[in-house]
Order: sequence, then C-alpha cells, then structure tokens
Amino acid sequence: MKKTVSLFGEAKSKNEKITMVTAYDYTSARLVDLSGVDVILVGDSLGNVMLGYQNVLPVTIGDMIHHGKAVVKGAHEAFVVIDMPFMSYQISPEQALENAGKIIKETNGNAIKLEGGKNVCPQVKAIVNAGIPVIGHLGLTPQSFNALGGYKVQGKQVQAATNLVNDALALQAAGVCAIVLECVPSKLAGLITQVVDVATIGIGAGSDCDGQVLVFQDLLGLNLNHTPKFVKKYANLAQDVQDALGNYCQDVRNQEFPSAPYEYAIKDEIIEELRMIIEKKEPDNDSN
Ligand code: KIV
Repeated sequence: MKKTVSLFGEAKSKNEKITMVTAYDYTSARLVDLSGVDVILVGDSLGNVMLGYQNVLPVTIGDMIHHGKAVVKGAHEAFVVIDMPFMSYQISPEQALENAGKIIKETNGNAIKLEGGKNVCPQVKAIVNAGIPVIGHLGLTPQSFNALGGYKVQGKQVQAATNLVNDALALQAAGVCAIVLECVPSKLAGLITQVVDVATIGIGAGSDCDGQVLVFQDLLGLNLNHTPKFVKKYANLAQDVQDALGNYCQDVRNQEFPSAPYEYAIKDEIIEELRMIIEKKEPDNDSN
C-alpha cells in the first residue's frame, strides 16, 4: 500500500524508526521500494552523484523534475520527497509556492524538502497552505556550504545549538511534517527530537533521531568520491560492478560471450537459401 504523510507522525508516536534512502532513477527507486524503505528522497545530492557537479548549487528545477518523475514511477509503496534546489525558494514565499507546485504537478511526488530554519518559515507556510507536505532540513545544509565555510558539523557551541533548537521549533510551527538533521552532534539531535513533536530524520546525527537517511550510492558503496564519516557501507558495489564489467570485456575479447544460451537460432536451410539468393544477385552497379 502506498505510504502517506501520516507515516511520520505515526512512527514517532509509536517510537518506530523511519527509514529514508535517496534514489534518482526508476531502477534504483524500484530496488529501494522493494526493500521496504518508508521514504525515498530525490535529493539535490543528485548534482554530485548523478551529474558530477562539485556541489549542489548548479542543480535546477528541471533536473529535480526529470529525476523525480522517474523515481515516482518506481516507488509503488514508498513516500516520495523531492528536494527544492538552490534559489528555487529563497527569494519569496510566492516563488517557493510556484516552484513547489510545479515540482509536485510534474512529478506526482508526495512532498518537497527545503533547507533552512526561521528564514524559510514564510515559504514553508505558503507551501503547506497549498496542501503540499514540507520536510525541513537543518544543520549542515549543503546549499549554504559557502556561508557555513564548508561541510562541517553544526551546532557545537551554545549559541549555534540554541539556534538549531529554535529553528526546529519555528519549522514545526510553520507546519513541516518532518525535519532532516544533517551533521549535528548526536546528543543535540536527540534533544531536538525530544523537543519537537514532528519526526526528525538524521544523517550524521546519531541514533536518537526518529529516522535515518543515507544517499543510495554511499550506502551501497557505489560512490568513488570521498564518503563522510557518518556513512556505513552495506555493500561494496563499486568493486562488484568493476569486476563484472572487467569480466564482460574479457569474455567479449576472447569471444566467450555471447555463447549459445544468449543467441537466437535460425534453420540452416534458410541460411543456405539466402546464400544462393545473394550469389545469384547481380551487382546494382556493374558498369565497372
Ligand atoms: O540531497 C540529499 O541527498 C539530502 C540528504 C543528504 C538528506 O538532502
């Protein structure tokens, strides 16, 4: 059965952990969906892992819609959240609402996610009022990595930690259904999880959050670039894929692939007849 936005509140009240994994295309979405993951996030991390950018800033609404559409087709049961990319919501609540509406209309996704705290609450209210569930994102917000001075753990000092708690409360008051906490000390994430009524989803934020999210490529060991400390690799698919591709190249070069089980047969007499037809055929241009 297709999961709905109520999963966040229900899981939090029953103390059941929420599972979230990113996906960016139909095949990965089918695999994530079949594994029973609750929520698929079409993250703007697709800029890094799918499009090869250094950071998420160049990702466009068109990119999110293109990948979001494919994921929604593969997500039969999982709830699908689509990230709003950099500068698609920061300008005004009107801009945010227009772009959130476009993303949901064109992808048929179930919710959007955007980064920020108090500063984006007018945007959150406008989108929620239009009937679109919104997930907040606090802590290390990759769209602000320039302002944050890089990819660093957030909220380590009293003022920064207090700001995070206040931002979480402000997002809750604005109507978010959940909050992603990225790269936040575990005890602070645990405290925020106690303070807010909405579900928290951690990434590099310890086990006390109401749920966890990881990037598909990181979790499966497919990412050839740097993987952060908080990533647990549940497979080493990069090696498996390279081994498989190497074996394929070897088989093709040694003419061991394709072999009989992978070929289509035809009767010998048909080939014989064809040969006779070809041999009898006059060349089209016999002037030479
Ligand atoms: O874009 C993304 O993948 C994310 C997760 C890291 C939470 O926002």
